[in-house]
Amino acid sequence: MKICVLPGDGIGPEITAEAVRVLKALDLKFEMEEAPVGGAGYRTKGHPLPEATLKLAKEADAVLFGAVGDFSLDTLPRELRPEQAILGLRKELNLFANFRPAMVYPELVHASTLKPEVVAGLDILIIRELTGDIYFGKPRGIHTLANGEREGFDTMRYSESEIRRVAHVGFQAAMKRNKRLCSVDKANVLDTMQLWREVVTAVGKEYPEVELTHQYVDNAAMQLLKNPKQFDVIVTGNMFGDILSDEASMLTGSIGMLPSASLNEKNFGLYEPIHGSAPDIAGKNIANPLATILSAAMMLRYSFGLGEPADRIEAAVKRVLAKGVRTGDIAESGMKAVGTKEMGDAVLAAL
Ligand code: IPM
Ligand code: MG
Repeated sequence: MKICVLPGDGIGPEITAEAVRVLKALDLKFEMEEAPVGGAGYRTKGHPLPEATLKLAKEADAVLFGAVGDFSLDTLPRELRPEQAILGLRKELNLFANFRPAMVYPELVHASTLKPEVVAGLDILIIRELTGDIYFGKPRGIHTLANGEREGFDTMRYSESEIRRVAHVGFQAAMKRNKRLCSVDKANVLDTMQLWREVVTAVGKEYPEVELTHQYVDNAAMQLLKNPKQFDVIVTGNMFGDILSDEASMLTGSIGMLPSASLNEKNFGLYEPIHGSAPDIAGKNIANPLATILSAAMMLRYSFGLGEPADRIEAAVKRVLAKGVRTGDIAESGMKAVGTKEMGDAVLAAL
């Protein structure tokens, strides 16, 4: 089992180091190889997704990804910015289905800014389409109009087959859970999203057991705060999923807790925390490594079919939280916060 480890920028190296320690502790004979990506790729190899890094990722059985993003490189042309690394990997590896679960641990109910009764027991899964939409649609650019002012433009597009395949993923996930799927779109305004709704509805005919509902994205954003427990699985496009998954993370108390899996048709996957590189806290040993550790658990389950060790990691995280071990982002007032490494130590001890 070959794992390509891409720590990236900011807090990326610190949090992936903890996940790697946890994987190593399982004694499962992984081969792990690291490569630079994002700003780290640009600085060492002149490109956010160096050729050798992409090759390593393609040859591996799974990819463990930290985070990319580096303010000091934001003035580079877009194709050289750190974010292009993760967008390039998603596209090159055809990782169209992004699983972003959001669940509330009983111990962290009070870490959420929402009332405990709104979030207690929450367990939802957002499935975000990851290789289409306005993120990748062409044409795009910034051009100069006849009157001399500049105009920026991007193109939202989805083909029927792109919608269909992610819809299937959504329905299949719902079948394994509580059999409710909410498709989020903006069909009242956008033609692309009208097609989205038509195709998802048609695919739904193949899953008569799943209760399919539709919400417009603005309403869904509101419903997630008003009554998040109404949701089981949400399936949505790339941009709406980006936004709603950040919102959903706050229901759980901290974005530092949420893992994700990005899969292709063959269940090859890239696993990453949903948070970014957090340059403001990088190198200070204060970032929460749990989202990355939980991403490693998802990797075991989805890419390697190793449900038992995945359960063990998740149980260890629960035990650590039950013991009151907290990084700063999830500590209640009066609680002492531990560092990134100490959180890793605690998970290892619990394992
Ligand atoms: C995410 C991130 C990325 C995205 C960025 C880093 C390109 O926000 O994974 O949600 O927009 O998809
Ligand atoms: Mg995002």
